[in-house]
Amino acid sequence: MRILVSGGLGFIGSHTVVELINHHHEVVIIDNFYNSQLSTLYKIERITGKKPAFYEVDATNLETLENVFQRYDFDGIIHFAGYKAVGESVKKPLDYYFNNLVSTMNLARLAIENKVPKFIFSSSATVYGDGVSPFNETMELLERTNPYGETKAMSERILTDTVKANPNFNVVLLRYFNPIGAHPSGLIGEVPNGTPNNLMPYVTQVAKGIREKLFVFGNDYDTIDGTGVRDYIHVVDLAKGHVAALEAKIVGVEAINLGTGKGTSVLEIIQAFEHANNIRIPYEIVDRRPGDIATSFADTTKAKRLLNWEAKLSILDMVRDAWNFEKNL
Ligand SMILES: NC(=O)c1ccc[n+]([C@@H]2O[C@H](COP(=O)([O-])OP(=O)(O)OC[C@H]3O[C@@H](n4cnc5c(N)ncnc54)[C@H](O)[C@@H]3O)[C@@H](O)[C@H]2O)c1
Repeated sequence: MRILVSGGLGFIGSHTVVELINHHHEVVIIDNFYNSQLSTLYKIERITGKKPAFYEVDATNLETLENVFQRYDFDGIIHFAGYKAVGESVKKPLDYYFNNLVSTMNLARLAIENKVPKFIFSSSATVYGDGVSPFNETMELLERTNPYGETKAMSERILTDTVKANPNFNVVLLRYFNPIGAHPSGLIGEVPNGTPNNLMPYVTQVAKGIREKLFVFGNDYDTIDGTGVRDYIHVVDLAKGHVAALEAKIVGVEAINLGTGKGTSVLEIIQAFEHANNIRIPYEIVDRRPGDIATSFADTTKAKRLLNWEAKLSILDMVRDAWNFEKNL
């Protein structure tokens, strides 16, 4: 299949492009370098032996996006492009609503106009709000606590309504849990913009000496050791989930969780990192972060049933590969 990948030079996008090429799909990437570098394109080529077509295009600009659709007939679109920092979205709601919603609407519009049958959207476990884990796709979505989460819930709604009006348009809403790790080659991984908001890049920066210590937000949650519990998934497993979603016969619209189904606490991640890489991670317990929930993990049965996909890699693989990437940066 020939697949358009928006945001294909970003963290999850670049790993997905590698897996698509490994599965003999033809890839066309668009990205506006908001949170990526051109060097990632050459790294993808080093890993796969193939350089995908690339266009510097902003997905909120319908005209330049149309030019790409004039050049190619696509069999599918995977839409990663977007802003993703929860805290920043509270400070810049208009930027988040504009970029995340307009890019989704533009790509959906062009998909319909050009009869592209498949659309895969990067959604997030954050759409479940502060509900009770394991999160199941049939659960009612609770109110989100930040504009970022709201853009994901709204995009899901926009795409669902678009499917209802267009019977030949099929959409998979992939709700990611917590992707971490990096490609085992050490060539591509997560490069956060400024101070990392997520645990893993913070840990690897402490390991490298860029930051003095890790701040753990709260140890009085009702969890195994009081720290927050999340469903960490290796980014390579997550990338393979996209290939499975593309190749599966999905008719209409389906929301599908991509997680491992297992929760791991912050302290367990620190211990795993220290054990796998033989590096001590100094940390300090500080107050809870507003908006954080105690526990989040996926019910993974729908992904197994519809996509015949499940995560294979362990927490040790994740912390080893994350460090392997960071130390080579
Ligand atoms: N990383 C996570 O923990 C996580 C969890 C759930 C959902 N998601 C979603 O998955 C998607 C990919 O996340 P990621 O971690 O790879 O983020 P990322 O920032 O690494 O990748 C996003 C890419 O999109 C590009 N981009 C942003 N706006 C664009 C625009 N208007 N036009 C063209 N390109 C644009 C950026 O330059 C970047 O390369 C995002 O939509 C994100 O919200 C991520």
